[in-house]
Parts: sequence; C-alpha cells; structure tokens
Amino acid sequence: MKVTIERLGHLGDGIAEGPVFVPMALPGEVVEGDVEGGKMAAPRILEPSSDRVKPPCSHYKSCGGCSLMHASDAFVANWKQDVVRRALETHGLTAEFRPIQTSPPQSRRRAGLAGKRTKNGAMIGFHTRASGIIIEIPNCKLLEPAVKESIPALEALTIAGTSRKAEISFTVTQTLGGVDVLAQGGKPLDGPLRIELAGIANQFGLARLTWEDELVCEIYAPVQEFAGHRVTPPAGTFLQATKDGENALVSAVLETVSGAEKVLDLFSGCGTFSLPIAEQAEVRAVEGEASMLTALDQAWRFGKGLKHLTTEARDLFRRPLLPDEIKGFDAIVIDPPRAGAEAQIAEIAASNARLVSMVSCNPVTFARDAQTLVGAGFEIGFVQVVDQFRWSPHVEIAASFLRR
Ligand SMILES: C[S@@+](CC[C@H](N)C(=O)[O-])C[C@H]1O[C@@H](n2cnc3c(N)ncnc32)[C@H](O)[C@@H]1O
Repeated sequence: MKVTIERLGHLGDGIAEGPVFVPMALPGEVVEGDVEGGKMAAPRILEPSSDRVKPPCSHYKSCGGCSLMHASDAFVANWKQDVVRRALETHGLTAEFRPIQTSPPQSRRRAGLAGKRTKNGAMIGFHTRASGIIIEIPNCKLLEPAVKESIPALEALTIAGTSRKAEISFTVTQTLGGVDVLAQGGKPLDGPLRIELAGIANQFGLARLTWEDELVCEIYAPVQEFAGHRVTPPAGTFLQATKDGENALVSAVLETVSGAEKVLDLFSGCGTFSLPIAEQAEVRAVEGEASMLTALDQAWRFGKGLKHLTTEARDLFRRPLLPDEIKGFDAIVIDPPRAGAEAQIAEIAASNARLVSMVSCNPVTFARDAQTLVGAGFEIGFVQVVDQFRWSPHVEIAASFLRR
C-alpha cells in the first residue's frame, strides 16, 4: 500500500488517511509498505520530506528511547510549539509564544534503563521500539555521560541481583555526589545480597543505591542544587529531566512571580521553584509526597539568604486549597503531574488570586486548565515551550496568567 503522511500523532508517528499509522515518517512523505491493524510497521520512504535528516545515533533504527531523530531540529521545534498552540485553540485560546528552549544532546540526567542477565554477564539499555526486548546503547546521544558511565555498575548489579530470566528496572539520576540508583524488580533483599550490592556500589562509586524501597547504602550524598541550595531528594522522586530544562522553567516562573512578596508553590516537589523563589519572597510549598517536603525543609534550614518557607503535605486532587487558604498570596506557582490540576484550578478560579505561573508536561490538560482560568477573568501573558525530552514527543510548558 502507498500512502502520503498528513500529520504527526501525539506519539510522533506519521498519520496517513485511514488512519494508517507510520512510525518514523514525516508530513508530506510518500511511503509504501504492508499495513496490519492500521499500522505500517516497516515503511519504504518513496518521497522523503526536506525536513528528514540522518539520525545522529547509531541505535536509532531499533531503540525505543527516541522517536523523532529522523526530523530536523527546526521541524521538531515547530511541531512541539504547534502541539501546544493547537491544544489551546481547541479551547478557543490564543497566546504569545516565546521561542522554544531545547536541551542539548547528552543532557538527560535522569533515565529509566532496563537490565537482564545473559549467558556471559548482563545487558543494560532501553527497550526496542518494535518488540520491547532490551538493546544496548553504548553510543546513546541522549544521556549525560555520567549516567551512561554507570552502565558497568548496573551490569554488576543485574548479575548479582536478578534471577536468570527476570528483567530489572533502574532509575538512574546524576547527582553532585555521583550517580543515584533505584533498582526495581530484582531478587528480594536479604543479608548476603545486601552486602554484595553495597560492595558493588562502593566499587563503582555510586552515590546511593536503593533496592525497591529499601536503602542499601548511601556512600556520597546524592545532592541536587536548586539555585545553589543543596537538596537531597528521596530515591526515585521527580526531578526535571535536564538541568537546562530546569533552568528554562525556573527563569519563566521567576519572571512571572517577580515582585510578589508571598508565593504559593503547588505540587512543589523538593523545591525546584520554591528555593529560587525564596530568595526574593516568602513561600508556602504544598505537595503530596511528604518525604519530598522533608528534603525541601532541610534544604531551606541550611540555605543562606532565604526568606521564610513553610511546607504542607496534602493531596491536591482530593483536597485542593480553598479560596480562603489562597487569600493573602500574591502569586501561585502550579506544576501538576500529567493529569493536570482540575480541582485545584477550579478553586484558584473561584479565589481572588491575580497571578498564576503554570508549568505543565501535558498540553491537553494544560489547555483545559488554562481555559478555566481564562473563563474566570485571567489573561495568558506568555507561553514558553521547553523541550527537555529531546527527540521524543514530550512537551513541557511554562505559562503566565494575570487577572486584571
Ligand atoms: C511535575 S512534578 C513537579 C515537581 C516540582 N514542581 C519540580 O519542578 O520539581 C509534580 C509533583 O506533583 C506531586 N503530586 C502528584 N500527585 C499529587 C497530588 N494528588 N497532590 C499533591 N501533589 C501531587 C508529585 O509528587 C510531584 O512532586
């Protein structure tokens, strides 16, 4: 079958009339191949797009870690801006878009890697796009060098800590103290295994090793710096994917709340925004995960030149802050997970809040929540798209809302 690609879907696949989904194809391209279940798994490109480039990574053809490496940077940048623009248009909204900020190659400081024992040792990598088996990624262009250099340690942990057939997942995070590793799906931890795993962590200079939810060892403090303030996040909790992306989001948030004296930081995590804001304003950080707030509180106590900061552990989906609790804050920062913040945004809309800095990783829920604010009298100031998941279809957004 021969088809012409009309557009990209939200996972970055080409879509032709039918619809027929064609991975790694670009709008305008004419492709040919067998179609099964609405998918052309192995297309031959008959007429390539002028936006097509040679993928910079030798693993790209099979690795499932990236999905847009066959497109030029300019194409991906425009496409990501358009995804956000179209999501807003669906709700009748328009906005001023700033130029996208894209993280450089080899800047992903946090990644999920899979491991499996083999006849001669172990293999570590990403899953393949088609079959979900593990592919090794020695030439990966995505990961921070420190994350990639942890692969021999992950191999040793896989050999020691998994049975022959099982697959293990690692969340690997670059920290100032070295690499922080959380392993899930390995053998149950007992005394001898704990000693062996701690020996491996020591041998390879890991900062911290956590097995399921048990700390095996912390050899160096797995510290992150937010605006120079040192935080030790709990193992496996949220961290912006690249330092570059974090800087872009923080500067958009700081610009929005500049001049405010009391700021509410909702879904605050360990304080990516709270700590930089506390250099100029009082902050109340609210977040569902109590251990993240303990880390933030400790960082604040040791921080220099910070204004007053308080924390509250609270489920903001079930118990959003009410208008009375929002009263008295000059600005609100809100950075929910992918589901967005429907309940909390409804309370903000019903309150007398004037300034909101919204950060989002999902254009669909971002646009829905933006519409609620606009319906309550807010105007969108700017929209800043941040691409910290380079070569993937993910999009990050920071936007400002002002009620006159
Ligand atoms: C996208 S992260 C943002 C974290 C932080 N603002 C940052 O940039 O590092 C979303 C945060 O929401 C928290 N969260 C998820 N569901 C929640 C809920 N129902 N109530 C409160 N916080 C929640 C997560 O623990 C996570 O820290």
